[in-house]
Amino acid sequence: MRSLLFVPADSPKKLDKAMTSGADALVVDLEDSIAPAGKAKARLGAVAFLEEVTAAETRPYLLVRVNGLQTGLIDADLDAIVPTRPDAIMLPKAEGGASIVHADAKLAVREALSGLPDGHIKIAAIATETAAALFLAGTYAGASNRLSALTWGAEDLSAELGAEKNRDTEGMLLDPYRLARALCLAGAAAAGVPAIDTVFVDFHDIEAFRRECGAARRDGFSGKMAIHPTQVPIINAIFTPTPEALRHAQAVVDAFAASPDTGVVGIDGLMFDRPHLTRAKRLLARATPRRKPTAG
Ligand code: COA
Ligand code: MG
Repeated sequence: MRSLLFVPADSPKKLDKAMTSGADALVVDLEDSIAPAGKAKARLGAVAFLEEVTAAETRPYLLVRVNGLQTGLIDADLDAIVPTRPDAIMLPKAEGGASIVHADAKLAVREALSGLPDGHIKIAAIATETAAALFLAGTYAGASNRLSALTWGAEDLSAELGAEKNRDTEGMLLDPYRLARALCLAGAAAAGVPAIDTVFVDFHDIEAFRRECGAARRDGFSGKMAIHPTQVPIINAIFTPTPEALRHAQAVVDAFAASPDTGVVGIDGLMFDRPHLTRAKRLLARATPRRKPTAG
C-alpha cells in the first residue's frame, strides 16, 4: 500500500472527493480530526459512507481510525463500524503487542456478532504516539495475525513530551521524532509487516513533501500517509518502483536462481549477496498489482 489518505468522518464532501483521489487506501478518521462533541455524528458519517462503498466493485482499501484504547470511545466506534465491514482499523496510541491483542479481542467479538469471519478486519497500528509506546516498539511480532502495518506519529508524541516543536527551522525532524521514525521501521520489520511513513502537515509545500517521500522510500517505508488529495499522486509516483529498479531486482533474483548454491554473485561489476536478494524480492513483491482484498 503506497498512499493512505486521511479523511475526517464528519465531512461527506471530503469522503466523496477522497474516492476519486487515487489513494490506495482511505483512513476514515474518528479520532484527532473530530472534536469530542462531534464523535457521535462522525460515527454516523463513517457508517453511512462505508455502507455505501465497501461493497463497490472497485474501491480503495478502507480503514477507520478509531479512538484509542485509553479513551473509553473505542467500543462505541467498533460497535458502529464493524457491521459495515471495513478492511481494517487504524489503532492510534498503540502501546506494543499487548494493545494489538486487546484490540483483536474487541474485533473478534464484534465480528462474531456481525457474522463476519474471525480475523476479517485487520489492524494498522500507530506505534509511537506516547512516550511509553517508544519502549514497546519491538513487541508487535506475534501479537495477532490481524496486524497488517505499523506507522508512526510525531504530533501526539511532541505534545506528550512537552516539546515546543518536532521539526527544526528547515523542516527537518528533531531527534526524538527521528528516533520514533526509526523505531517504527525496526518494529515493523521485526513484526514482518510494512512500515508506513507519517503525515506531512504543511500540504502547500510540495517540494518538501516530495523530499520526505523520497527519504522514506530510501529508508525502507513502503508508503506514506496523506492529509490532502494533492499529496496522493506524489506518494504514488515515488513509492511505485521504476521499470529500471524492477529490471535490476529481477536480474539479482535471476542470478541467484541460476546458481542456487552460491551466497554471492557478480552483476555488471558489482557484488550482490543474500541481503541484496532479500531486498530485490521485496521490491518485486511491492510491484505486484494492488487489488481490494477479497471479501470474506
Ligand atoms: N480528503 C478528501 N478531500 C479533501 C481532503 C481530504 N483529506 N482535504 C481537502 N480536501 C478537499 C477539500 O474539501 C476541497 O474540496 P473542493 O475543491 O471540492 O472544495 C479540496 O480538497 C481542496 O482543499 P483545500 O481548500 O486545499 O483544503 P481545506 O482547507 O478544505 O482543508 C484540511 C484542509 C487540512 C482541513 C483538510 O485537508 C483535511 O481535513 N485533511 C485531513 C485531516 C485529518 O484527517 N487529520 C487527521 C490525521 S493527521
Ligand atoms: Mg493524533
